[in-house]
Amino acid sequence: MPAEFPVARPRRLRRTPALRRMVAQTRLAPADLVLPMFVKEGLGEPSPIPSMPGVVQHTRESLRKAAHEAVEAGVGGLILFGVPAVKDGTGSGADAPDGVVQTALRDLSADLGDATVIMSDLCLDEFTDHGHCGILTPAGEIDNDATLERYASIALAQASAGAAVVAPSGMMDGQVGAIRSALDGAGYHDVAILAYSAKYSSAYYGPFRDAAECAPRFGDRSTHQQDPANADESLREVLLDLDEGADMVMVKPAGPYLDVVRRVRDTVQVPVAAYQVSGEYAMIEAAAANGWLDRDRTIMESLVAIRRAGADIVLTYWAAEVARALAR
Ligand code: PBG
Repeated sequence: MPAEFPVARPRRLRRTPALRRMVAQTRLAPADLVLPMFVKEGLGEPSPIPSMPGVVQHTRESLRKAAHEAVEAGVGGLILFGVPAVKDGTGSGADAPDGVVQTALRDLSADLGDATVIMSDLCLDEFTDHGHCGILTPAGEIDNDATLERYASIALAQASAGAAVVAPSGMMDGQVGAIRSALDGAGYHDVAILAYSAKYSSAYYGPFRDAAECAPRFGDRSTHQQDPANADESLREVLLDLDEGADMVMVKPAGPYLDVVRRVRDTVQVPVAAYQVSGEYAMIEAAAANGWLDRDRTIMESLVAIRRAGADIVLTYWAAEVARALAR
């Protein structure tokens, strides 16, 4: 064997931590991370979510404190989910001026102002007694266009309460356009839209439905959320949302859909977000609790992988913890 063999030695650049750091292609920074937070109306104490260890439903007060801490840690933004005290057929809590999300938005904008990006999830499932993302027809099917009117009204309620970004997650056709025109019509030209464009009908949302108390009472979401078997459809949804005025687009879940994240990143010129959902969180926490995975390394690897696939922004329940770890 000739002495110079092999000629190519990729291991040279992997030799020391300093070399590996210098040549790392993907970096994770606190500002890339967005923290989803749950706030429940009328709650006396923060309430742990059993399937999401470390995540709680916040009270009005505990939300303010946790939001402040996350911002101190340097997270890029916060996204709010509300659980109302009372649910009804039209989800009237969703756009009530004193609804749980609007109250929280006013608190957080008063506390934090422009120090972070305050976003709100925009959907009906947390607010309807049937748990569906829209208004139902008498036959029990979602009425797409009647739902759009509700979404437009929720957008106005959230914008007037201080949301800098609204994030429609209901997967109704035309939702971004309906929201954009309502916002513009009321003078909220500067409120941005982060569209959950490629949102799959996913079993990975299971723990979230405990957190937001929004599992559908009957049926499922497969008539509006995408089939996991499809990828081209995601590009269609993304392009439609951009046409309708989306400022940023999202792929959800993240980890099981990294191919979709990459294809969206290669197709659009706007920021791409990916949502590491409740089930992705629960799997790692559960395996780590059993001693089956190294928790911290797995969390970091899962996030770097999502960034490497092309996501600019990652929504993750570990946002504040990871932001703190990155600052060390
Ligand atoms: C709908 C919504 C869901 C999630 C975010 N927004 C649930 C669903 O579509 O059933 C899931 C988030 C997660 O699993 O972490 N408002």
